[in-house]
Amino acid sequence: MKVGIIGSGNVAQALGRGFASRGHDVMLGSREPNSEKLEGWKKKTLGKVGTGTVLQAARHGEVVVLSVHGKAAEAAIEAAGRENLEGKLVIDTTNPLEMSEGLPPGLFVGVTDSLGERVQKMLPRSHVVKAFNTIASIQMVDPKFPASSSPPMMICGNDAKAKTQVDGIVRSFGWSGTLDLGGIEMSRWMEAFVPLWVTVGRKLGTWHHVAEWVHP
Ligand SMILES: NC(=O)c1ccc[n+]([C@@H]2O[C@H](COP(=O)([O-])OP(=O)(O)OC[C@H]3O[C@@H](n4cnc5c(N)ncnc54)[C@H](OP(=O)(O)O)[C@@H]3O)[C@@H](O)[C@H]2O)c1
Repeated sequence: MKVGIIGSGNVAQALGRGFASRGHDVMLGSREPNSEKLEGWKKKTLGKVGTGTVLQAARHGEVVVLSVHGKAAEAAIEAAGRENLEGKLVIDTTNPLEMSEGLPPGLFVGVTDSLGERVQKMLPRSHVVKAFNTIASIQMVDPKFPASSSPPMMICGNDAKAKTQVDGIVRSFGWSGTLDLGGIEMSRWMEAFVPLWVTVGRKLGTWHHVAEWVHP
């Protein structure tokens, strides 16, 4: 599968490595596709990987992952070209974090709207699935949890087929599966969950946790 990843930070690099390690053909899209950072990532990532502009990554992907700062999500979609995302699964990993008052972060949209919904509205002919946004980038691929706990990953979206595809992807990354919370409007609560996740992480002194999961 050809995977285009919009973004070049922690999440983009982790997922890019994950997809490439599972045999997919990955292009990371950045405003600076030839940066030293990305040259380094390409060198140490096994598999078929390349970098390009945001537009090139969007065109490259049969599946496209959006992993930019929340405040840049809409601009990144414009840079990708909405028409290049039509008919495709778009995995939205973003969070609308407002960091202006420090930690824990606030949200710049929430409760009656969400970034996931805004992304889906911008892309009415794409199948947007919110996923990975409640998980630390270090746990996205080959997650390491205590033996007694194997949490599913929370996802939401409007298209059942797209969610089944995401379920297959996260299983291939070593997760036990997904917990489908419903339509894309459930992004309101998945995104709102993140400031809580940060607060729990600071209390526990770890970023490896999946705070929604309390194993019975
Ligand atoms: N870090 C985590 O553990 C984690 C976990 C779950 C979800 N998330 C969410 O995933 C997203 C990415 O997080 P991250 O930690 O990977 O962030 P990051 O390391 O800070 O990287 C952010 C990326 O945003 C891109 N970007 C910024 N402005 C842009 C613009 N105007 N147009 C296009 N791209 C732009 C940058 O790409 P270029 O500079 O290369 O263009 C950069 O690669 C965020 O929404 C975050 O809330 C993060």
